[in-house]
Parts: sequence; C-alpha cells; structure tokens
Amino acid sequence: MSLIESTVHDGLVFPPPADLAARAEVSGMDAYQALIAEAARDYEGFWARLARETVTWRKPFSTTLDETNAPFYKWFEDGELNASYNCLDRHVEAGNGERIAVIFEADDGTVTHVTYRDLLQRVCRLANALRRRGLKKGDRVVIYMPMSIEGIVAMQACARIGATHSVVFGGFSSKSLNERMVDVGATALITCDEQMRGGKALPLKSIADEALAAGGCAAVSSVIVYRRTGGEVQWNPKRDMWLHEITECEADICEPEWVGAEHPLFILYTSGSTGTPKGVQHSTGGFLLWAAQTMKWTFDWKPSDVFWCTADIGWITGHSYIAYGPTAIGATQVVFEGVPTYPNAGRFWNMIARHKVTTFYTAPTAIRSLIKVSDADPSVHPKSFDLSTLRIIGTVGEPINPAAWMWYHEHVGGGRCPVIDTWWQTETGGHMITPLPGVTSLVPGSCTLPLPGILAVVVDETGHDVPNGQGGILVIKRPWPSMIRTVWGDPARFKKGYFPDDLGGKLYLAGDGAIRDKETGYFTITGRIDDVLNVSGHRLGTMEIESALVANAMVAEAAVVGRSDETTGEVVVAFVVLKGPRPEGAAAEKIANELRAWVGKEIGPIAKPKEIRFGENLPKTRSGKIMRRLLRSLAAGEEITQDVSTLENPAILGQLR
Ligand code: PRX
Repeated sequence: MSLIESTVHDGLVFPPPADLAARAEVSGMDAYQALIAEAARDYEGFWARLARETVTWRKPFSTTLDETNAPFYKWFEDGELNASYNCLDRHVEAGNGERIAVIFEADDGTVTHVTYRDLLQRVCRLANALRRRGLKKGDRVVIYMPMSIEGIVAMQACARIGATHSVVFGGFSSKSLNERMVDVGATALITCDEQMRGGKALPLKSIADEALAAGGCAAVSSVIVYRRTGGEVQWNPKRDMWLHEITECEADICEPEWVGAEHPLFILYTSGSTGTPKGVQHSTGGFLLWAAQTMKWTFDWKPSDVFWCTADIGWITGHSYIAYGPTAIGATQVVFEGVPTYPNAGRFWNMIARHKVTTFYTAPTAIRSLIKVSDADPSVHPKSFDLSTLRIIGTVGEPINPAAWMWYHEHVGGGRCPVIDTWWQTETGGHMITPLPGVTSLVPGSCTLPLPGILAVVVDETGHDVPNGQGGILVIKRPWPSMIRTVWGDPARFKKGYFPDDLGGKLYLAGDGAIRDKETGYFTITGRIDDVLNVSGHRLGTMEIESALVANAMVAEAAVVGRSDETTGEVVVAFVVLKGPRPEGAAAEKIANELRAWVGKEIGPIAKPKEIRFGENLPKTRSGKIMRRLLRSLAAGEEITQDVSTLENPAILGQLR
C-alpha cells in the first residue's frame, strides 16, 4: 500500500491551517496550480518575472535562459547585480536600516542584536580591508569560521567585492581544509582564534596554521583572524592579521562590485560517490533569486517573523537560509553559536521562547536526539516552554521518519504549525520539493510536491518516466536558476556526474531514489542511490573514508558502508584488513580507536566510523570486486539471503559478522 493510502487510513493527513492559508504568500492549491501553469505556459517568462520582482538589478537582463552550451546553462547572463547590495543596502535604502537583521546568541547565552544598518557597515569595512589587501573580483577566499556575525559578514564582504568565497565547515580537519584551499586556489583565508561549542573552546587558528603549512597554499597571502575567545594563537606577522584591527580604520561605505549574473558567488565542497570532494560552483543571480524566493514561498515569510535556521554556515543550508536568503528579503533571524544540548537539551525551545521565533528550521537528527532526552527529562521537553509564537516548522538534510515528524508536529508545533519537509541539495542551491504551508496537505515522511518551476520526475535507469507508485531515480527535467553551474576546475566531472549519458544527457541526476504516491503524486525520498552516506544530515562519501583509512600505515584494505541508525539516520561502519594479523579482543578495540582518531584527523570528526570490524580479507567476487551489498547486510546484522555463489571467499562472512 502506498504511503498516502496507508497514512490516510491512519488518519494522518494534515491540511494547511485555514488562517495561515488565508494570509499565505501562496494561498491555497489554486494559487499553487496557477504558478505551475504559468511556468508550463512560458517557462522562461515565469523565471524572468520572478527574477525582476525579487532581485534588484543594477543592469536588467535581456536574456533569461541560454541553453547553447547545455548542460552549462546560463541564466540572466547580461544582467548585473551585487548580492551584498541586494541583502543589505536595498533594505537600508528602503528605510529599514533599523530593522534587526541578526539576533545572535552566543554559546554562553550572550545576545547581540545587529540591525541592517550595522550589518551593512561591518560588511563595508571588511570589504574595504579586503580590497586594500589587493583582493578583487574573481579571487577565491576561504572562510573557516564558527557560527558568528563575523562569519556572515565575511561571506557578504566577499560578495561585495566580487570575490568568490568557499566556506569550509569548522568541524573539518586541517587536511580537509588544506585540500579545499589548494583546489579552489585561495589567496586569502578568514578564520578565528577559537570557536565556542558546548562550553568548550576549540581551536580553529591552529588547525588553519597546520593546513597552511601542509603545502600548496603559498598563494594565501592574507590570513584574517576574528578574535572570538582571546585564546593563545601562533602568529605569523607576515601573513596574519586581526579582523578587528584591519577593519578599525576603514570607511563605513564601500561601493559594491557589480558583477554579471553568472559570476560565481561561491564554491562549496561536498562529497560525491567517487574521488575527492567536489567544489559545487554557484552563480550570483540565479542563486540569490531562489534563496529569496523560497524564503517567501516555503517559509511564507512576513516582516513580523523571527526566522531561525539552526544549520551551520559551513553547509549549503547556512548559505541559502542564513547568509543570503533571509538577508535578501530583509528578514530578522536568530543565529546561534552553540549546540542544542548545552547547557541542557532544552536550549532550542528556550531560545524559541525568548526570541519569539515564528519559523524554525532544523535537521531530523537534532529532533530525534532531543526526543530521546526529553522523554527522560520533562524539564527539557518542549511542552515545558512557551512555543506559541511558532507558526511554521521545517526540516532539512535527511529523511524524517513519521514518528519523529509526529513528535515535532505535536510537541514543537503544538499541532498547529505545518511541518515543512524540504528536499534539496548543495547542488540545487535552494528548496526543490517541499510542502508549502498555505497549500499542501501534509503526510508525515513525504516531502510532497515540487515548487513551481521545478520539474521533478521519477525515471528508470534509461531515463524514462516510471508510473506513480513505482520507485525509481529522482531527476529534474529542466534547468532552474539556482542549479550548480559546474564542478570547480572539473567540468567533465560535472557533466558526467549530473547529466549522465545513460539518462540521455539532459536530465539532472540528483543521486537520490524516490517514489511518487499513486493518487496524490507526492514524492517520498528513498535515499541515495550512490555510495554517499548521510550521517546526521551530513554528506559523506564512502570512498573518501576508505582512502583516509588506507592512508594509515597499519591498513591494507578498507571498505565503508552505512548502517541505518535511529538517531543519526545512518552511521559509518568500516571493514578493515590490516597489514599485520587480524586483531581480536582488547587489541582490536585499541586499533579501532586509533583508526577512528585517524579518520577524525584526516577528514574531520563527523567522518569517524561508529564501528570498525577487522577481517583477514573482504568479501570479493572472483574478479576482485568488493561485494558491498553483503557488507551492508553484515553491518545491519541481517541474515545473508543474497546470492553468494559469485563470492570467492564465502568463509570470510562468518569472520566479519
Ligand atoms: O539524500 C538527500 C538528502 O541530503 C542530500 C543532499 O545533501 P547536501 O547536499 O549535504 O544538502 C543537505 C541540505 C540541503 C540529498 O541528496 N536530503 C536532503 N533533504 C532531504 C533529504 N532526504 C530526504 N528528505 C529530505 N527532506
């Protein structure tokens, strides 16, 4: 039975609240259908209208979509704009300079309010300081920063002078940071002395120093350091400078660099199924349009709203729904430095109550881990807090299981707030398939329907549509403005990975499986179809972790698979063959811990395997191919029911079980 049928039978369909729908940006199914029809009638005209209404152009565009060099699509190409102007100046010019842009809450609870006028001044000062150091349009600046006002300022300052930023998540290791700086060809790095998380200071500058020393970074001539804790740092006076010192003497105004719509606003690295992480390149015009438009549609933004996205600026969600989307529309948003469990697991709910948050956007993993703790401790349960200001709650990054959805809906949303389960990716730049709060009847576990203008379909391996009710591969049929433009420095990888020839070369391959409901056409994402894991909503390539493991002198061979997990969605399980004898008991535990720490150093703590099993070998076919599906079954503790007749060494299964 399909999802909607089974849930309809359980009575689990939640229509949009009538009062919310009546006032909504997209009000009701007819309004949604009208937008769909507009896009169907005149696809380019539809996007051109949105781009003219939502973005302020310095020079208007005359062409909307250029498909000449498909799949290297161009949008609004002859238009000129500046992202930072759109996110800051235009609100100040419209008389909204005193509106609060950011309510920043530090790890220790200190709250700072920043108006749009303040934010603009800070961005201008840093932009001037960057220019003074010779940085200009097209240069790449790596940002390795904690959640902070300064992190957002750094991104916007790059945008202001036309420099392309590449933010590296603060949880990545020096090796990962080094690889990204080298690949992107950075000439400047903006970082921080230490970050504060859960009451602990964690070094960033010293990791950055290691990364810079690791080679290939000779071009990085400026290292700008935000002083967060005042903790001790090593200093290279030729290269290092304090952010507060270099901005002190700068002017509060800075003429924006007007760039073409296709100018790369940022490059963000993400994991793929093969090779090293890829630099997903985004445009300025198309990206900004969709970040702003989806704020209005998906989050039904109103000027009275207080928006809070709990993501980190190191991920795409923090780009689209912290740094750019909310600011582009002049929203007031909460930005949080810390973690949901400090000083206790009521932190999120406490903050929602104190800041009167209306729109809350978080990851299913966070919800699931908070369910666990608040079941045991009523004082941190959401029902102990006044969450009555909330009107819309959303999730992102991974599938949300119906039980967690129901808890979120009932206890956080008070049964009245639509749960917006947004499906999208680093590559898509913004929401793709998601309920709209004033339109869609919700079914727990389904991301429901594509946004207007997004032609999502489910196909088979040859690119042909499959009927609703039958699972398949999720693809997007037409280009859209906020899509990935290329893989930085590797256009062939872009084409091969996202527009593969087996699907006809014209469909955008998302890398996820999906199934549509027979009656409603609602989408449910069934998970990745490639070797990419999703741990706590973070994307990890199995190949990357395997490469990290085999780089250790003890390891001869390694294979990594995912196992589903109640809280984090998936966990990493590694099967390892050592160069020496297979360890057992305490020795095995000791080496496993060493290897876990090693992976933490090589990639970052998020990639550490939860479990490591040692074998004398791995299950392989006679031609030497590792049989991953068997490893997945072993990791899950399932009976092996698959055909093992092609297996060269069936005895190994017993050892790895
Ligand atoms: O597998 C899908 C999953 O996360 C992947 C994208 O990861 P990333 O590029 O890191 O971006 C995460 C934030 C947008 C997708 O290919 N994913 C994302 N959102 C959902 C999801 N899976 C199910 N439901 C979602 N709502």
